[in-house]
Amino acid sequence: MTLLEAVDVSKSFGGIQALSACCVRVEEGEIAGLIGPNGSGKTTLFNVMTGYERADAGSVRLRDKNLTGASPRAVFTQGIGRTFQLTRIFPRLSVFENVHVAVQRAGTAGVLKHWTTARERQRVDELLDFVGLSSLRDLPAGSLSYGQKKLLEFATILVSEPRVILLDEPAGGVNPTMITYLAERIQTLNGEGVTFLIVEHNMEFVMGLCDRVSVMHRGSLIAEGTPAEVRRNPAVLNAYLGD
Ligand SMILES: Nc1ncnc2c1ncn2[C@@H]1O[C@H](COP(=O)(O)OP(=O)(O)OP(=O)(O)O)[C@@H](O)[C@H]1O
Ligand SMILES: [Mg+2]
Repeated sequence: MTLLEAVDVSKSFGGIQALSACCVRVEEGEIAGLIGPNGSGKTTLFNVMTGYERADAGSVRLRDKNLTGASPRAVFTQGIGRTFQLTRIFPRLSVFENVHVAVQRAGTAGVLKHWTTARERQRVDELLDFVGLSSLRDLPAGSLSYGQKKLLEFATILVSEPRVILLDEPAGGVNPTMITYLAERIQTLNGEGVTFLIVEHNMEFVMGLCDRVSVMHRGSLIAEGTPAEVRRNPAVLNAYLGD
């Protein structure tokens, strides 16, 4: 069953057509991949799906809810979490404080119950443990490696227990050990019922992790299928070679 979908979404920036009648769907319970050459519109599609950009045309649906034009906060309260291609963390706050801020924000947005300070702090430590950053909890977040920052950002979106998580290039610039670790964490969450849509250029990561892969080229969906199907689709190869 389709959980989240973008239907015929178009978006242009001045003269640049970033999305052109783009259709991408995410099935409930799957780990879906979204690939395509640089500039094919993947991040713009994420931005439209999560309320950070408004589409010129088309719609975004979460099951039977219309999320077209909804604000980022409204999308967040519907249980959709996302990361950004460049991490968004507070560099001067500690690792612990970054997650704590996210816990408090989720409480304010009504996504989490208002917890006691002790329960909040316990939750932060659980999440840092889950992403493997416990030993770094008191360091300024700005001192983490790029991969560690990405894991920290991942922890902050897990705070609100989203049922759908959109990841924009989670493995980009991250070392192989940490990529493997991240893939395991994604699989663990998926086993608990969390649905994923992952944009990633690392083909080994995408093909190894995803149940189904959608391919974008010049703002439109040009192929979708299992990793094996997508890999042998000539249109996909052409899109990459042509750019
Ligand atoms: N805010 C913006 N203003 C102007 N043009 C933009 C803006 N955002 C995206 N674009 C343009 O839209 C097109 C799609 O960009 P987008 O970032 O969505 O691609 P992408 O598939 O995520 O690429 P990459 O793999 O490099 O991250 C590109 O031509 C880009 O330059
Ligand atoms: Mg992008």
